[in-house]
Order: sequence, then structure tokens, then C-alpha cells
Amino acid sequence: MTDPDHKVVLRVRGLTKKYPGVTALDGVDFELRKGEVHVLFGENGAGKSTLISIISGAQHPDGGTIEVNGRPVHLAGVAAARGLGISAVFQEFSLMPTMTVAENLVMGAEPGRFGLINRRRVRRLAQERLDEFDFHISPDRLVETLSRAEQQMVEIAKAFRPELSVLILDEPTASLTEEESERLFSLVEEARGRGIGIVYITHRMAEIRRLANRVTVLRDGKLITTVPGGTPDDELINLMTGRVVEDLYPELPEPGTRVVLAARDLSTFDGAVRNATFELRAGEIVGFAGLMGSGKSTAARACFGLERVDSGTLTIDGADLTRARPARVMKAGVVYLPSDRKTEGLLLNRPLRETVTLPWLHRGSISSGPVLRPGRESAVAGDMLRRMKLSPPDPERTADSYSGGNQQKGLLGRALLGDCSTYLLDEPTVGVDVGARVTIYDQIVELARQGNAVLVISSELPEILHLCHRVYVFAHGTITAELRQDDINEQTILRHMMHWDEPAKEIA
Ligand SMILES: Nc1ncnc2c1ncn2[C@@H]1O[C@H](COP(=O)(O)OP(=O)(O)OP(=O)(O)O)[C@@H](O)[C@H]1O
Ligand SMILES: [Mg+2]
Repeated sequence: MTDPDHKVVLRVRGLTKKYPGVTALDGVDFELRKGEVHVLFGENGAGKSTLISIISGAQHPDGGTIEVNGRPVHLAGVAAARGLGISAVFQEFSLMPTMTVAENLVMGAEPGRFGLINRRRVRRLAQERLDEFDFHISPDRLVETLSRAEQQMVEIAKAFRPELSVLILDEPTASLTEEESERLFSLVEEARGRGIGIVYITHRMAEIRRLANRVTVLRDGKLITTVPGGTPDDELINLMTGRVVEDLYPELPEPGTRVVLAARDLSTFDGAVRNATFELRAGEIVGFAGLMGSGKSTAARACFGLERVDSGTLTIDGADLTRARPARVMKAGVVYLPSDRKTEGLLLNRPLRETVTLPWLHRGSISSGPVLRPGRESAVAGDMLRRMKLSPPDPERTADSYSGGNQQKGLLGRALLGDCSTYLLDEPTVGVDVGARVTIYDQIVELARQGNAVLVISSELPEILHLCHRVYVFAHGTITAELRQDDINEQTILRHMMHWDEPAKEIA
């Protein structure tokens, strides 16, 4: 079984992990070779994050063995794993929010010695590290002021260390745009070239095609099989789900024409959006495309009353709602799904039911007048979790006990529950498995079919290409193009995304 040409750097046998009521891992064998990218593939909740949390020392297995370079090891914690050359970038980040980028980077690299190093040296080391990756982030910024994508970059820079032998990446591109993802891919390829073994979790088929030497498929906590990279997509999806997934994207209904939301020359106070003019119409799916920091998310947040508007106007159904607060915008029938589920959406250690129903507690479906009906609340939340195909569809489990993709489905469920007329969805499918995407796309198209206005902000081009009637492309805070169905193609969008030749400055 062991091929002498392939040096195994990490091997686990019979790994088992149980949570109350769930066997997250059930006797899983897994092997990582030097200089390979080994993709873990499986549906939301299959056990991928659990597996890597064990091999990175963050959690302890209930059974099974772990060997590093042929020697059995006990991983007492993350520091012990780091000592053996194992580094992980998790779905949920581990940075210290109240410390600077530099402190986070250098502290991770030199544990224990931090107190002795002077500030200037910390700063210089961090700057060197960021430069090496070409990440434009100031080392002096506090981590809590960074966007999710920027935090991801810092995590990645922190994980790459000279003495690294195993690098673990859990959906590393989930909040990166194409350009940043490209940069990450070359880093991964470089690391592979240096003989580092890489465990890479992704739901994106293009990344598997691009990077994988081997793919291990998990389903319901069990190992299904390990196959070579280059295995066709449909075969992988079949292995993952145990069924054949037909077309990913549903057919779009005829778009409506009545304007629901109109922004004219909208500029935000921070300058992230300048003179943006756009419209959302009833029965239409509109896409916002653009790189990180292009203003596409800020524009939507401004519509929802979450950004300070400097000039321009915003009307909804003809009523002027420029500078209105979110509560008022919601009253006008608008709902907003934030892209950062951890900081803006989930009530992590509370039952998922509360996350789902929170904004809608006053609704007749849940309360009678001012009186909350807990039974109804549970029923409504449970129905929605089933409609979103959560596993398990149990509204009383805490949000943080759900896998990453299932948390995302819960948040989208909350947005859909509001029975609104305008839906602003920022990255609605981040971290969601291929099978569950079909569910989400169907729901989005159904919203449009019912006459709602839907905005999809996405850094995934296929979503923009196949799911949208009309697309606005953002670059450097302005709208550089408005494209209609027949003009929506990859080249055109990319060209307008890169609108200026001027290199991107410090990302604000
Ligand atoms: N802290 C916890 N308490 C209870 N159950 C948990 C906990 N963490 C994970 N689980 C459960 O273990 C199973 C595996 O979850 P895991 O996070 O490993 O899935 P995943 O493959 O990473 O999914 P995703 O693609 O959605 O990130 C799921 O059923 C999940 O609900
Ligand atoms: Mg996960």
C-alpha cells in the first residue's frame, strides 16, 4: 500500500469524533504526502472541518491514531501541532481582534518571545511577511478594523512559516475575490513545490481542478474514497452526494420592469462608493460584480441604512429613504443578508431558532399582538430549516454546533422568512456545498418569479453569469458598467472589474 516514492508526512487511522447526537467522524483513514495538495470534499456537515481541527490539535479525537513523519503523536493542542510543523487556517479565524496585524503575525511565528522583541522589529518582520505575499494591508491596523477578506489574508500570512511541513486550509477562498484567490493559488503551488503537504477544503470545483493531486471524499462522517486529482466533476459530486446533480443553475423567469429601488448618484461618506446610480426591479435578479473593496458591498449596505450616505438619493417604491435607518428600510420591505456571518449574523451560542426568527418576532406568524408564541416560533424556524435542507433541521441546536455551510443556510433562511419584497443578498452561497447551492439558486429564482426584486452580490463569476438578468460592475468605488443578459460574459465583466490600470492602493 505504501509507495516508497511518496513520503507520507501525516497519517491518521480510524479517527472518530462524537458530539451529542452526531458522529462527526466515524473511523476515518487519511494520508497526506509531502508535496501534494490533498483536497477534502464533502457535503456541509460531512466532517471536513472536524477532521482538520483534530490534525491541527484544536480538538481531541474520541478514537484513532495520528502519525507525523511515521511517528505516532499525541496532539495536546494547537501549539503542540505547530511545534510539529502543522499550521491551519480555519473557517473561523483565530486572530486577536484588539491587537495589530503585526502583533498577530509575529506573535504566531515566535511564541513566547514576543515580550522581548521591540515594536519596530515586530513591525518590520510583519511588513516583510505581508510584502512576500503582496498583501496590501498596513501592519499597524487593528485586526478588528479589517474586513473578513483582509483577516483571511493575515491568517494565511501567519500560517506560512519557514518550518512548515503540513498546511491546512479550510475554504481559504470563501471571502477572497478572483484576483486574491489567484495569488493564494500560486502560494499554495509554491508551498507544494517546497515539499509541504497541503490539506485543502473547498466546495469549488474549479479549485479542485486547478490544485488537487488527490481528493478524499467524506460523507456523513465516513470515508467514501480517495481519488486522483483530475477526476471529472460529476463523478466527484456523485461520490459526495450519492446522487447525480443535474443542472446547477435554474432557468430564469422573464424579468419584470417596475422599478422598486432606485439609487441616484449615491456616494458614501467614506468614499467607498462614489456617484453610483442603479435600480432594482420587481421580478428581476440583479448582480453586483467587483473585486474586494470595489464598493459592491458598501453600495448595498448604504441602501439598507448601514453606511453613512454623503450625497445622492435612494428611493424605495418612490419614497425617499436616503439616510433612513435599517429599521425603516426593513419596514419598506427590504431585507439584507450580510456576507460576514460571524460578526453580523449568527447568535453563535444560542439555539439556531433565535438567529432565524430574530428580526421577525413581531410578525403575525410568530406572535399574537405583543405576545410571543414559542410554539409557533419553533414551528416557523423548523419549517425554514427543512426548506433550506439543513442537516439536522433542529432549531434548538446552537448555531455554533452547525457546520459552516449549514450556518450559512440558516442565515439565508432568516432572510427568506421575512416575506419581504426586496432582497439584498451579499455572497449568498459562501461555504455552501454544490448540492445545497442548487437549493439556494432555486429559492432565489423563485423569489424573482414571485415578483420580488433580488440583488445578488457575488465574487463568484459563475453566479453572476448564470443567475442574473442584469449586472452592475464595480471598480474602485464607481459603477463601470451595466450589462444586460446578452452582454453578460466573463471577458466583459473582468475588463470592467479592472477598469483602471492604476494599482490598487492600501485597501480601506
Ligand atoms: N461543537 C459541535 N457540537 C455539536 N455538533 C457539532 C459541533 N461541531 C460540529 N458538529 C457536527 O459535526 C458534523 C460535522 O461538522 P463539520 O463542521 O466537520 O462539517 P464540514 O464538513 O466542515 O461542513 P461545511 O462544509 O458545512 O463546513 C456536523 O453534523 C456538525 O453539525
Ligand atoms: Mg467546515
